[in-house]
Amino acid sequence: MNSNNSNGNGKNSRVEERIIVALDVGDFGRAEELVQDLKGVISFFKVGLELFTACGPDVVKMVTGHGAKVFLDLKFFDIPNTAAGAVRSASSLNASIINVHALGGAEMMKAAANAAAGCKNPPKVIAVTVLTSFDEAGFSNIGISASIEDSVMNLATTAKDAGLDGVVSSPSEVRTIKKHLGKDFLIVTPGVRPHWSTADDQKRVMTPKNAFDAGADYIVIGRPIIEAKEPKTAAERVIEELQE
Ligand code: C5P
Repeated sequence: MNSNNSNGNGKNSRVEERIIVALDVGDFGRAEELVQDLKGVISFFKVGLELFTACGPDVVKMVTGHGAKVFLDLKFFDIPNTAAGAVRSASSLNASIINVHALGGAEMMKAAANAAAGCKNPPKVIAVTVLTSFDEAGFSNIGISASIEDSVMNLATTAKDAGLDGVVSSPSEVRTIKKHLGKDFLIVTPGVRPHWSTADDQKRVMTPKNAFDAGADYIVIGRPIIEAKEPKTAAERVIEELQE
């Protein structure tokens, strides 16, 4: 595959810079071991709710201190003023990507986009549309009558109109979102599985190559790398397969 990609920033990134490894662990020491082990192969890490709740901002500083980038996956969802404040705090940690829930609505997303724009080193702000853990039955249970597919497109369009940089999306939604919202609207895609790993609890998976071919700008991979016997070897294997 073409290992370069125009990712919406007008800059080309090598494929290994477009793999974000999810540090889904609960303690600082293990997170740092993984960053140290993967350094030189992986340069982008996702800090999510488990790790951030356990360790706080210091863990973001640890990752950036090793020269790597951070996707701070805290999925802010609150009134516009509070969400804007959270975005300012996250931006001060020098995360490269942060996210909010699109279900927070257009006003909240505009407040988030404006808050980031006013920061010294603005991160990309992206939106989670419909959580991939929802099926149609669970989605209608919360009182939303539209289908998941229609809701994803509607929320992604609202996010773009509000000034956000992109969305988190399952691999199966990437093509449609790129087609309707353009190649510069960033897509970060979890639910990615190399052919040699297990799906775990992910339902709709794609290989890294298929996710990039569909148009993903970044892919997020957690367990296939961090739970491998040798995480660095697993990461190298993913990259080699993408370069074939
Ligand atoms: O281990 P695995 O590769 O499944 O990890 C995927 C990561 O992406 C996890 O941190 C998960 O919380 C996150 N994620 C996801 N689906 C979403 C949003 C985030 O799997 N829709």
